[in-house]
Amino acid sequence: METPSIDIQNIRAKYNNAQDPYLLEEKLPTTDPFALFDIWFRDVASQSDLTFEEINAVSLSTVGKDLRPSSRMVLLKAYTPTGFSFFTNYTSRKGHQLEENPNAAMLFYWPKVNRQFLEDKKSELVEQAEREGHETISKPHSWGGFHLVPRYFEFWQGQSDRLHDRIVFERDTDIWLLKRLSP
Ligand SMILES: Cc1cc2nc3c(=O)[nH]c(=O)nc-3n(C[C@H](O)[C@H](O)[C@H](O)COP(=O)(O)O)c2cc1C
Repeated sequence: METPSIDIQNIRAKYNNAQDPYLLEEKLPTTDPFALFDIWFRDVASQSDLTFEEINAVSLSTVGKDLRPSSRMVLLKAYTPTGFSFFTNYTSRKGHQLEENPNAAMLFYWPKVNRQFLEDKKSELVEQAEREGHETISKPHSWGGFHLVPRYFEFWQGQSDRLHDRIVFERDTDIWLLKRLSP
């Protein structure tokens, strides 16, 4: 393979942080991680041309019983105060892996706002109940929805000074514990 002409080591975009770095606890608009996700999603939507930017594209990681992780992009189709839904073929690799092991991780990256959002690999429950409601004529019978119920959220806000902001919400029975990881 030829040496790439692109100087990968020096690719470093400047983060010009137009947003308030409001992850600081005292500036957080809410302490409900679902509501905070909603605010972030609306923010990035308001700054995007949704006819060609798929801000709902999300990396989904799963691990089957062979313990080999795999990741791929899917399109988030809904989020509610309980979790995050996407659609797929239940007979696909991810479909089989989620059947064997309901734990999964979803990861969004929105470079436009220097933000990353992670719903970590602790999905409690994967429901197939939405299958009937969402089937369409053109989709095979095996096509349907998964609903991932998070136990862990991580919000990452890139800062122009590179002291990136990172906070975590972890569920403790029925309350969310907020923890700062950095700076
Ligand atoms: C931007 C983007 C969005 C995608 N959305 C979906 C989706 O919503 N559902 C889906 O099953 N596959 C989607 N795919 C295809 C998956 O990434 C993957 O190739 C396919 O589902 C097979 O994955 P698996 O073999 O790991 O199960 C998408 C791919 C891209 C690049």
